Amino acid sequence: MKIYAAKDYNDMSRKAGNLIAAQVTMKPDGVLGLATGSTPVGAYKELIAKYEAGDLDFSRIRSVNLDEYKGLSGDHDQSYRYFMNHNLFDHVNINKEETNVPGGLAEDPEAECERYNRVIQELGGIDLQLLGIGNNGHIGFNEPCDVFEKGTHVVTLTEETRQSNARFFSSIDEVPTHALTMGIGNIMSARKVLLLASGEGKAKALYESCFGPITPNVPASVLQLHSDVVIIADEAALSLIREKTQWEDSVYDN
Ligand code: PGA
Repeated sequence: MKIYAAKDYNDMSRKAGNLIAAQVTMKPDGVLGLATGSTPVGAYKELIAKYEAGDLDFSRIRSVNLDEYKGLSGDHDQSYRYFMNHNLFDHVNINKEETNVPGGLAEDPEAECERYNRVIQELGGIDLQLLGIGNNGHIGFNEPCDVFEKGTHVVTLTEETRQSNARFFSSIDEVPTHALTMGIGNIMSARKVLLLASGEGKAKALYESCFGPITPNVPASVLQLHSDVVIIADEAALSLIREKTQWEDSVYDN
């Protein structure tokens, strides 16, 4: 696990944008695992700017997103399909037919999860998986629980996650109660993982994920077992790691 310190959100986003851009340049027909939420928005803006400057070509890139709310259509402005279109896909030359998000309206969600596992497999796996981290340590919508779920599955969102995401909806009652998410196995089989964290609210989850016991109660802690994880976190998110480990440098390699 390598941790890179960023000054603030913008610095984190620039560093992340550079890393994802390098991946797209080095493997123009590669498979990107993409994430939603506030955290990656700045990195997506960086990618759009690089595309507009003529430095990036997404025409052969394929993508798979981590998750989708159950019950929301791709047109709903809080669906993750809508988020991806508006924050990245509509602004670069990616072929939208080669972008994948679990179907939130699938009549048979279990079958949709199986289909999504097959999509990832048929793409040959994920080259670079981008992740945010929840205040509770979740990755994708893999919420704290007793086991690491391997494949794509339907999950009941925790109250904490619904509260945290309520800021995007007009009321908490509108926040879906369930989601379809890639499992920990899907994420762990990505060849490279890039986790971004910004803000003090993430400090505890980030510390526990990097330095605490590996447990499904802190889903991101499983990343300690992955051989190629890069974390880019701003100083606010790093505050507890700084305090507990006395790490002062800008790169941590453990
Ligand atoms: P955020 O969410 O980027 O909106 O903080 C991250 C997550 O819940 O994974």
